[in-house]
Amino acid sequence: MGNEATVDATGASALLDVFAMIDFEPVSGAGVMLKSADGREYLDFYGGHAVALLGYGHPRLLAALERQARDLFFQSNLVPLAVRERAARALADFAPPGLDRVFFVNSGAEANENALRIAFRATGRPIVVAIAGAFHGRTSAAATVTAGSAAWNGFPSAPFEVRWVPFDDEDALRTAVDDRVAAVILEPVQGVAGARALSPSFLRTAREVTRDAGSLLIFDEVQCGMGRTGWPFAADAMDVTPDLLTTAKGLAGGFPAGAVLIPESLARGIKRGDLGSTFGGGPMACALVETVISVIQEEGLLGNVRHLSARIHAECAVGPVTGIQGTGFLLGLRTSRPAAGVLKDLRARGILAGGSADPNVVRLLPPLVLRDVHVDRLVSTLAEIPA
Ligand SMILES: Cc1ncc(COP(=O)(O)O)c(C=O)c1O
Repeated sequence: MGNEATVDATGASALLDVFAMIDFEPVSGAGVMLKSADGREYLDFYGGHAVALLGYGHPRLLAALERQARDLFFQSNLVPLAVRERAARALADFAPPGLDRVFFVNSGAEANENALRIAFRATGRPIVVAIAGAFHGRTSAAATVTAGSAAWNGFPSAPFEVRWVPFDDEDALRTAVDDRVAAVILEPVQGVAGARALSPSFLRTAREVTRDAGSLLIFDEVQCGMGRTGWPFAADAMDVTPDLLTTAKGLAGGFPAGAVLIPESLARGIKRGDLGSTFGGGPMACALVETVISVIQEEGLLGNVRHLSARIHAECAVGPVTGIQGTGFLLGLRTSRPAAGVLKDLRARGILAGGSADPNVVRLLPPLVLRDVHVDRLVSTLAEIPA
């Protein structure tokens, strides 16, 4: 299958070979279905790694894209834009109360990089606390708080000290957070680690100890945010509000966009020139951010996620699946044999899903527009696959 058209006469691709690609070349999509170059159809429980939040070809996204492209394709942050103001207002209103100020960037790593920068500046402290298994991105600071960073982040030295806390270990967290800690950064539901949710009790402890120590609490909702938990953000689902919240991936439904949200109290300490971005807050991304939020609300997608997630939890422990973890549409199916084989068997039957850092977890990250019939098909397909 695949990329014959993109290789040269010697068969070499011009692309740097850094991704372990799967044997599947999508050429078009509609709703939650993808069509491949060889003409097969796939039901998409992967969502382009949690990015295709509204699936493919959503008419309102296409209309917003076309309208904005015709009006104004790009302008920088040195000029005011009504569409940027509207997107920021919509995002702040969608986010937990108090996170009222928005800084737009282009990716998840960039959002976390800036959240950490804000935390260091605001506290003047040198240390960050991170959670085992975390993935926060590949820029310098984000990589430094990503699990295994010493081995892979690629820079000669870490830009700051990190204290690692074992997953969901409240006692270790209490010990780690003191008056030298600028911030605790965590994914309320760890994505790359295999859709592992931190317990509400751990998140409440994180809130309490950071407040007591004068440290800041950062929720990385790059993967679990934007409705994926069945709530606007995991912070809403868990009823714990951080000081800073980062989001990206599905934020603009597939167009590059990221954001850092902070309260007014932190915003007051940030001066002109402290942060910046050429593309962040561009009109195309902002038109889509505004539309994504409006579609989530007007199409009742949060309720849809909660309903179908409950069904997946109740019905998918069949075939090779021995248990289900995670929240909303960020789910991990624990498998009795290596997930790679289960993913291949699913693909052979026309269903795409994701892997994770855990070799026995299949990750589900479907678009929020999934329907009951698609869950029916997932359940019956899993039941057909050898355990
Ligand atoms: C929780 C989390 N944070 C940050 C990132 C990095 O996002 P990006 O690849 O857009 O830089 C990811 C990407 O998978 C992620 O899952």
